[in-house]
Amino acid sequence: MYFYGTFPEDFMWGVSTSAYQIEGGWDADGKGPSIWDTFTHVPGNINNNDTGDIACDSYNKVEEDLYLLRALGVKNYRFSLSWPRIFPNGRNNSINSHGVDYYNRLINGLVARNITPMVTLYHWDLPQALQDIGGWENSTLIELFDSFADFCFQTFGDRVKFWLTFNEPHVVAWVGYGIGIFPPNVNDPGDAPYRVAHTLLKAHARVYHTYDRKYRPSQGGIISLSLNVDWAEPKTPSDPRDIEAADRYMQFLLGWFAHPIFKNGDYPDVMKWTVGNRSELQNLPSSRLPVFTAEEREYIRGTADVFCFNTYTSKIVTHTTTRLRPFSYEYDQEISVTVDSSWPSSALAEHRAVAWGMRRLLNWIKEEYENPPIYITENGVGIKTKSDVDDNARIFYYKTYIDEALKAYKLDGVNLRGYVAWSFMDDFEWLSGYDPRFGLHQVDFDNPNRPRTPKRSAVYYSEIIRNNGIPLPRDDGFLYGEFPKNFFWSVATAAYQVRN
Ligand code: NOJ
Repeated sequence: MYFYGTFPEDFMWGVSTSAYQIEGGWDADGKGPSIWDTFTHVPGNINNNDTGDIACDSYNKVEEDLYLLRALGVKNYRFSLSWPRIFPNGRNNSINSHGVDYYNRLINGLVARNITPMVTLYHWDLPQALQDIGGWENSTLIELFDSFADFCFQTFGDRVKFWLTFNEPHVVAWVGYGIGIFPPNVNDPGDAPYRVAHTLLKAHARVYHTYDRKYRPSQGGIISLSLNVDWAEPKTPSDPRDIEAADRYMQFLLGWFAHPIFKNGDYPDVMKWTVGNRSELQNLPSSRLPVFTAEEREYIRGTADVFCFNTYTSKIVTHTTTRLRPFSYEYDQEISVTVDSSWPSSALAEHRAVAWGMRRLLNWIKEEYENPPIYITENGVGIKTKSDVDDNARIFYYKTYIDEALKAYKLDGVNLRGYVAWSFMDDFEWLSGYDPRFGLHQVDFDNPNRPRTPKRSAVYYSEIIRNNGIPLPRDDGFLYGEFPKNFFWSVATAAYQVRN
């Protein structure tokens, strides 16, 4: 059923982007290359050989972007800082003042318009110079990331009060180092993702403590990270094995990072047990899942002020019994599940739209992590079409997903504080290039000026923001009642229409 209502008064409505996906200016004014620059410059790597060299040209369009954000009426704007634009070689001996100026202009413009900047420190564009020393497989990156973050807090923290360390660390670890289809293209699914995630968790905690100790007392902001998760629905909800499989899937996807940070400094039990057992079957001397020391657990536990996640779709999960193939590192194999996403959906959509998964997911997080304050930091739909200004499918997606979030807030008592749509505008969608499109604004990538045009969904979203949700319009209430007793009900035909 559709539910009408509004969110709390200070609800944070926003839109999101990331540096590599919109900025362009890939080598402008002394910016260093990132691993995505290197990767996209190799022909064949990206659909249609697209690159982020120019993207939406946001590096040169601060005023235009601010104007559109103001027109939408958002309360916050989530964007990321390009590490190699600020430190071209990844280290703080290479500060690029032009990069710093760019972000200062953007942040000042936001603050002047009463829009809260929500800043991601790492949205996948690692300085190439740091990949050259091993990327996230090298634990000195903990220190280097901390030094970058420290510089950002010091430079922008007087105006930025909402920080996110990593965007989707699961994707960094798994897609970059497991299946290896994102740079740095390490294909080592059984081991590297676990080691990399271990380093990412330590790096996150380190940056959290730096903020907490050095900056929070004077700047007073909050800090967290954005985790990616799809709701996992058990295929047969009456089968306890499917329920367990779905839960296992949630723990491997979300719990991998959320359990250490929001619970006890350590990985979920089911992860330790599953990976440990399989490692034993493989006659390995120890589990492929690394172990935190007691001191590290203490250091990692509690290192996020609020719970932030990105979500797009839901999955159907079944328990599988074909798990005794210890040398297969297929992810689903590792966790003994089969994942399916065959929900009915529009053929053009990138992911299946399963709005009710949003409400279940919010409730799962509420239960699992003891009712934390929650921000949805990405949600939206990618559609494979060049011109989708008249994007009713996207309106339907937002309407239904936001409505399920509203139910979770109003009916289930989920402590939901904000909703950020992905994306502010059409942008570079990683391996897929400029197709599909996720934007509330269309960008014409064939035009060197990269003009932006609001889609219908932008108008719709701004209405939701203005109304702070989906209130029932006074005149639109469904009218319940009866007609007079002798009311005449009948049906009609006409001779020519029903007779041969
Ligand atoms: C998650 C990522 O954070 C973002 O970069 C990407 O464009 C969207 N999902 C859509 O796939």
